[in-house]
Amino acid sequence: VAPVLINPSILSADFANLERDLQLVASADYVHVDVMDQHFVPNLTLGLPVVRRLAEVTPVPLDVHLMVEDADRWAPQYAEAGAASVTFHAEATQAPVRLARELRAGGVRAAVALRPASPVEPFLDLLDEVDMVLVMTVEPGFGGQAFIEGTLAKVRRARAAIDASGAATWVQVDGGVSRDTIGRIARAGANVFVAGSAVFGADDVAQEVEALRRLAEH
Ligand code: DX5
Ligand code: ZN
Repeated sequence: VAPVLINPSILSADFANLERDLQLVASADYVHVDVMDQHFVPNLTLGLPVVRRLAEVTPVPLDVHLMVEDADRWAPQYAEAGAASVTFHAEATQAPVRLARELRAGGVRAAVALRPASPVEPFLDLLDEVDMVLVMTVEPGFGGQAFIEGTLAKVRRARAAIDASGAATWVQVDGGVSRDTIGRIARAGANVFVAGSAVFGADDVAQEVEALRRLAEH
């Protein structure tokens, strides 16, 4: 079975104290880094120079989620910048298989992300080509949005196809993951959970990571 992984999103961390906040989530599996270009999504966050420094100071591997246009051009540069995993959006690449192969050849995990309204079916025959499928459970762009219940069916279809094929592909969810939602998302078949506001909005950040992990494992 796929391991349960908790990846706090630093979109909800203090951008003036990122190194400090990375230490707070030292027990997490990966730290999720949202790169937004103000074109693919209506928000602007951080880019290559910041990811390079985060990779140098973090005790936890970086899970970089690219919400940028022209992923074919940019994603390999994030692999070089020190990410452990690079996720590009299906809607932002011309050649997902070529890009995934290029990322893997660079020694990182490669993942394809789907907006809530994008179908997973075109990728179900290509699961061997990626290490992870990210099912967005909110429209990408902002933290703190409400979970979209209708995305659970896509999680179920992705998990069923992966199990049927014998692939080791992970299923990640991102958006609206909290103590209230994580149990049913786990039961739908996701194994990698991104959580921003739930983790960094908690009184005890480290304790929240472990609380989410326990709820996902049951
Ligand atoms: C949204 C980002 C998410 C965001 C999730 O586009 O991709 O990673 O941080 O935030 P929460 O967990 O608050 O929904
Ligand atoms: Zn994200």
